[in-house]
Amino acid sequence: MSGEKKVVCVTGASGYIASWLVKLLLERGFIVKASVRNPDDPKKTEHLLSLEGAKERLHLLRADLLEEGSFDALVEGCEGVFHTAAPAMLSTNDPQAEIIEPTVKGTLNVLRSCVKVPSVKRVVITSSMASVFDNRKPLNSDEVVDETWFSDPVYCKEKKNWYVLSKILAEKAAWKFAKENGIDLVTIHPGIVIGPLLQPTLNLSLAIVLNLIKDGGKTSPLSVFSTADVRDVAFTHIQAFEVPSASGRYCVVGHVLHNYEALKILKELYPALSIPEECEDEKALFPKPQMSKEKAKSLGVNFTPLEVSFRDAVESLKEKGFIDI
Ligand SMILES: NC(=O)c1ccc[n+]([C@@H]2O[C@H](COP(=O)([O-])OP(=O)(O)OC[C@H]3O[C@@H](n4cnc5c(N)ncnc54)[C@H](OP(=O)(O)O)[C@@H]3O)[C@@H](O)[C@H]2O)c1
Repeated sequence: MSGEKKVVCVTGASGYIASWLVKLLLERGFIVKASVRNPDDPKKTEHLLSLEGAKERLHLLRADLLEEGSFDALVEGCEGVFHTAAPAMLSTNDPQAEIIEPTVKGTLNVLRSCVKVPSVKRVVITSSMASVFDNRKPLNSDEVVDETWFSDPVYCKEKKNWYVLSKILAEKAAWKFAKENGIDLVTIHPGIVIGPLLQPTLNLSLAIVLNLIKDGGKTSPLSVFSTADVRDVAFTHIQAFEVPSASGRYCVVGHVLHNYEALKILKELYPALSIPEECEDEKALFPKPQMSKEKAKSLGVNFTPLEVSFRDAVESLKEKGFIDI
């Protein structure tokens, strides 16, 4: 029980990654203060309240990214702060108000609460590979993307890639604020996160998997996937807090694969799925870069095999009624 008696908090606790983070923290004995936007909505809270240890050590609080000071009560008394909350969506009519502002201002809002609390030893923010490798330079298969890479905000704005832009700007603002205010900050950069769902609702990354299953990737926003298992991502967050020498950015990508490779794995696991043959053509069109695992491995992360992540994702999509294979 490495976390026994340590108090930590998690923002956006009802989300896909955060729910797993809360589960693993409780399993390790941490006292967890968790923020949700609406504590009265059972769809957002029941799966958290039923976790082992929740009765004794989970405290739910209401907080909103856009409300100044909203996270003060959450952060109070915590040694570790895990900031995962952000609107994870690709499109909206008002990207500034609905994606960029909550992500960037919300991150600074959480960090401002941290500065007020002397007990906070480290802040771990869930960023994304989106803020690492999205730039004008075409990626080829010789390239090894690592933590020294930065996405280009001008390029992402031109492409109207608002979610990616929000993650770039939030990370940049967080590092600047942390340096100016003496915060020990670590950022975690997962690829597309897959694996089992704890919550009853669908998040963006599992919606991508679901689309892949339903239409063979025809409407998928991605041709090349960089993936990470949700349990590995949650574990990396905990190690980033627990390992004293952890610092800087951590890419968390277990596997890079083409849509058609994902479909092949799904087909092997579930032979009843119909997979379109033309997916093979993508191989020539989209080169597959390599993504460095070295820094994540230094935190003790052992990446889950892809087949296990896909199988567990599909099984939970089935169990929660999203598909019927
Ligand atoms: N899933 C991925 O593939 C992936 C990959 C890389 C990085 N990430 C990052 O990981 C984090 C979590 O992603 P996820 O996939 O777990 O997403 P998710 O399931 O959609 O969870 C997002 C959480 O953020 C909360 N949130 C959104 N707007 C908020 C606001 N204005 N105030 C307070 N809370 C707000 C949501 O609260 P409600 O439940 O109330 O809506 C939800 O709990 C995000 O920062 C995302 O950018 C995700």
